[in-house]
Formats: sequence, structure tokens, C-alpha cells
Amino acid sequence: MSFDNFLSLLRQKWGEVPAGSDMDGRYFSAQLLAKDDATLLAEWQALSDRGKELRGWWWRLYAPLLEGRRVLEIGSGLGFDAMHFAGAGARWTCCDIVDTNLGVIGRVAGMKGLDIGRHLIDSLASFDALPDGFDAIWCNGSLINLPYEAAREECAAILRHLRPGGRWIELAYPRERWVREGSPRFEDWGAMTDGPGTPWMEWYDMEKLRQRLAPHRMLPILEYRFSSDNYVWLDLQHDGVGGIDDQALRPALASPVAIETPPLLWNHAWDHPIGRGDLGARITVEITCVVRNGTPGLALMQDGRFVSREAAIEARSGTQLIHLTTTEFGPETRLVVRNASALGPSRLEILSVNLRRAL
Ligand SMILES: C[S@@+](CC[C@H](N)C(=O)[O-])C[C@H]1O[C@@H](n2cnc3c(N)ncnc32)[C@H](O)[C@@H]1O
Repeated sequence: MSFDNFLSLLRQKWGEVPAGSDMDGRYFSAQLLAKDDATLLAEWQALSDRGKELRGWWWRLYAPLLEGRRVLEIGSGLGFDAMHFAGAGARWTCCDIVDTNLGVIGRVAGMKGLDIGRHLIDSLASFDALPDGFDAIWCNGSLINLPYEAAREECAAILRHLRPGGRWIELAYPRERWVREGSPRFEDWGAMTDGPGTPWMEWYDMEKLRQRLAPHRMLPILEYRFSSDNYVWLDLQHDGVGGIDDQALRPALASPVAIETPPLLWNHAWDHPIGRGDLGARITVEITCVVRNGTPGLALMQDGRFVSREAAIEARSGTQLIHLTTTEFGPETRLVVRNASALGPSRLEILSVNLRRAL
């Protein structure tokens, strides 16, 4: 479904937005707007103060970086981040798909003496009205709420307003949380994470976000899972456009394989040829696996040496998705599994191995 078609579904839900902290439930912005100035400010401030428990670390980390910078926030909700960073010297513009959310920000910012821009997203074309050259895009839990292809369209419209070298900073829900909650359909996961009526919720990790932002090339800066894997923080830097268009997957494993490693640390357990001639030297291998116990290590090997970093994967419930990237891919490249535990053998099943060009 296109962004413009999905937007009306999103707008039906998102007049109800989160409080400052994830311990405080959700609020209808239209109900907040109905309050008099003093009550609105007092209630907003109480929610923001409670939000320090969740948001404090990113407020402290990013305030010096964003001081004096032009930041475009996508999906600003009740404006807790906007107000904090604008108060610390950032030049902030809030975008949202619901006008009453922006209305709360307008009134609270006015009472606080903060100059915060506001922009209503009522279609993909509405992004055209924004100025160019922002130093950073800030999207805290907003671009995970719609199907991947629609989010790709929206990101392409947003990225036109980010300057070369600018930052993309996003809060998302990680795949690990989705697996823990039963790997539901994204249509169903929304209600489980953000309450009844939430039409969609999709997990992200750094690789999937970089694919969503392609053909813009984004260099990873930070991928940080926190709060018991309830959240993942993603921070990237713009590095140009193009050259990463072919993301088609090529299968490299005919059927699932069960592996038990030897008991000793670093002992070799299994390897499998994955070399193909038509892909070039920069390759990412996507592996889905289930680790039953121990800690297997997975890496790409060629001519007797590693040509990727080794992923040491701890046992946990459900499937895990591992990415191994090499810049030295060739016909002899093999996927290697060895034991990365000193506590005895490790057991895993590798369900799929797919190759694609690296981002
Ligand atoms: C989970 S709330 C987060 C609000 C705020 N960023 C915060 O940290 O409290 C999601 C916000 O994103 C907005 N939103 C939802 N889907 C969006 C989209 N596709 N584009 C822009 N904003 C969106 C909602 O209206 C809501 O304000």
C-alpha cells in the first residue's frame, strides 16, 4: 500500500500518543488541547519530567551535538524531545500526521518561549513545503508504524531535506522483541505494542533501516538495544546516493542444517561453500538460525583466514537474524561455524543463508 493510502489509517490512531515515559500510558492530544493554559502546561511538564527516566540518556548524549543545528523531527507526538533540545539550543522543526499533536506543541512551546517550527504531513507531497539542508532527521518511534514500502516512500521524501553528511537518528522496536512476542503479523503487532487501533508495527535493525533508506548510502554510527531489548536506537550518517540498488537475495543453502560443535572453545564445527561469481567483492550474508545452547561463532572464511567479523551468538528463544559482511568475497568463500563457548558444546540450526550486495 502506498504512503498516501495508508496515511488515513495512521491518522485514525495517532491522535492518541505516548506520555514522556513508557510507564505513563497514552494521551489524546485533543483532550489535552481542551485544557486551559496553566493546566496544560502543568500536565505536560509532569509528563516530561517523568520522561527523563526513559529519555534522559539520549537527551544528555545528543544535546551538545544538536546545539545550534537544524533538526527535522518526524512524528513528534507531544514534543518531549523537541522541547528538550530546542531548550538546549537546537533549531527544531516538528512534523506530525495529526494536527492536534502539533497543536499541543505549539501551545506549550509558546508558554515556554521556545521557537519550534511545525509542519502537518497530510500527503507525501506535503514534504515539498519543507526547507532543505537539515543537519539531522530525528524520528522517535514514528517510521515503524507503517508498512516497509510505504515507509520507504516517506523516507525518500524526507531525505531530500537532509544535508550531505547529516545524521538520521531513529528509535525503533528490534526484531528480538518481535520474536519474543511471538513473531506476530505486523498488522497485529501494532495493537500489542502501542494499543488498540494501531494499524501496523514493524521491527528494525541497522541493516533493515539502511535498506529502507537506500539508494541513500548511510554509514552506521550506533545500533543500541536497550530496556531489555524493548527498543533499538539507530544513528547513521549520510554518505551520498546510489550504487546500492541491487538488494535481491540469492539463496546459498539448499535446506536447513543442525549443527553441534565440539566441546572445546574455538574448535571448528561446520563449513559451507557460498561463493558465486556474479556478485562482486562486497557481499552481505543474511543467516537465520536458532541457537539452542552455548555460543556458536559464525564467520566468512577464504584461503584459510576470516574475511568478515565473527558473530558470536548466544542462545535465546526463537530465530535470530545475523548479517556478515565482507569486501573480499570470491568463489572460494565459505560460511564457517565454530564453538565460541568455553563452557561445552554449542547447538544450533541454520535455517537459511542468503547473499546480497553489501550496502
Ligand atoms: C509512538 S508516537 C512517538 C511520539 C514522539 N516521537 C515521542 O517520542 O513521544 C508516534 C508519533 O509519530 C506520528 N506518526 C505515526 N506515523 C507517522 C508517519 N508515518 N510519519 C510521521 N509521523 C508519524 C504519530 O502521530 C505520533 O505523534
